Amino acid sequence: MDGKLLERIREAGQEQVLRFYDELPEESRRAFEIQLAEVNWEALPELARDYVLNRPETAIPEDLAPAEFFPLEPQNENMRALYAQADLKGAELLRNGKVCCLTVAGGQGTRLGFDGPKGTYPIGPVSGKTLFEYFAGSIIRTQEKYQTRMLWFIMTSPINRQATEEYFSNNNYLGLQPEQVFFFTQGTMPAFGRNGKLLLGAKDSLSLSPDGHGGTLLALRRSGALAKMAESGCEYISYFQVDNPLVPVADPRFIGLHALENSEMSAIMLSKTNAKEKLGNFCVSNGKVQIIEYSDLPDELAERRNPDGTLAFIAGSPAIHVISRTFVEKLTAGNTLRLPWHRADKKISALDDKGRVCVPDTPNGVKLESFIFDALPLAAKVMILEGDRKEVFAPTKNATGVDSAESCRQMISERNARRLKAAGVALPLHPDGSVDAVIELDPRRVLDDADALELVNKTGLKAILPGEAVVL
Ligand code: UD1
Repeated sequence: MDGKLLERIREAGQEQVLRFYDELPEESRRAFEIQLAEVNWEALPELARDYVLNRPETAIPEDLAPAEFFPLEPQNENMRALYAQADLKGAELLRNGKVCCLTVAGGQGTRLGFDGPKGTYPIGPVSGKTLFEYFAGSIIRTQEKYQTRMLWFIMTSPINRQATEEYFSNNNYLGLQPEQVFFFTQGTMPAFGRNGKLLLGAKDSLSLSPDGHGGTLLALRRSGALAKMAESGCEYISYFQVDNPLVPVADPRFIGLHALENSEMSAIMLSKTNAKEKLGNFCVSNGKVQIIEYSDLPDELAERRNPDGTLAFIAGSPAIHVISRTFVEKLTAGNTLRLPWHRADKKISALDDKGRVCVPDTPNGVKLESFIFDALPLAAKVMILEGDRKEVFAPTKNATGVDSAESCRQMISERNARRLKAAGVALPLHPDGSVDAVIELDPRRVLDDADALELVNKTGLKAILPGEAVVL
């Protein structure tokens, strides 16, 4: 082994990762050394001390206050004029090819219990269309509407990169041109045991896991995606998560306001349904916007009320952003970016001293992840716009219950029902007011209410029958 590398590993106090090195065949040794050379050994002692041996507490600043946002409906004449201007600006930017899409799809989807890239999960309530098909369909319709072509960047992890690419190539790029879909892989972080020592996933490999969606920013630069954006004239990145099929892939008002407000990173906010809803919270401290995760916001703040009874920290994050390309360029200029790490205690399969793989029943180690929203305080200007929850947010996170595939399908069907109703179609209702049918509108045809109206006029649809399953 290269003496210098060995010395770095020893100095970091991590020589246990080499305990099976001598018994490895030559080829495995070489591959392992390449992996080891990528680790920032000098940073490890501090990380182990601050995040593993000690449990970091999210510091809650004394002056923490709720962040301000633009409301869903304009509140006065000036705002009405600004929103109208934003709609025009956003449409113009879309038409001129200044906007691209970015989906973060590197997560492992453990909670959903689905074996495969989460984007390939069949979410369509009737058709079984996948999450990726929903986004692709919306991109196709956006392109038609604005007579443009949008690039779509998809971040995978090293674990699901191949399966994701194969899915696209086996499915004709879901109707898009192969050249407009750009895959890139996020970075990894080695996992720690509780004692601060790195775990081995195999005799010739550390236990590595995706480094969180905060890794997106640096991965954009390192993969050449940023350069590709610049080359194609794309200035604004419409960012969304792989778990939300209702997301507007490129909302003109949101993009337009971002541009008009000279924001570097913008966010959609939703009014939380309850104090402890599992959404990140938009806050402000020392003039800087930041998101505090639901798990980190103290109860006293989460429960705090305004005089009218509404939640003080009302603004939750559906993880929908517009990010200026130049902001990412600036942040990653030195090919490095230090965002804070967040600790997650996890069950991690790892080798024991005899080289056997042990699959634990309880958390045995620590993974460190960085979060993209920790870039918000680094932005010179942040713009937050309220979104209409029913229209833009239906996360698929769990197998059952809240935020599950089932609740997501229900929300897709309800949104479609609203659109059809607005277009004059008679709907069968359950006594509780929910629609007594399953309704799917093809995202390639229906992006908004206007599209739904056009579709209804074209098909002459008048009514949906009780219990009917409809795909239009
Ligand atoms: C996330 C947000 C939360 C927000 C909520 C909205 C975090 C930490 N929290 O919660 O503030 O209110 O969504 O639904 O993100 N991903 C990667 N690489 C990784 C890890 C994740 O690409 O290394 C992607 C996933 O594929 C997914 C997204 O990031 O698209 C969110 O990850 P997840 O861990 O599911 O976050 P949540 O806890 O659901």
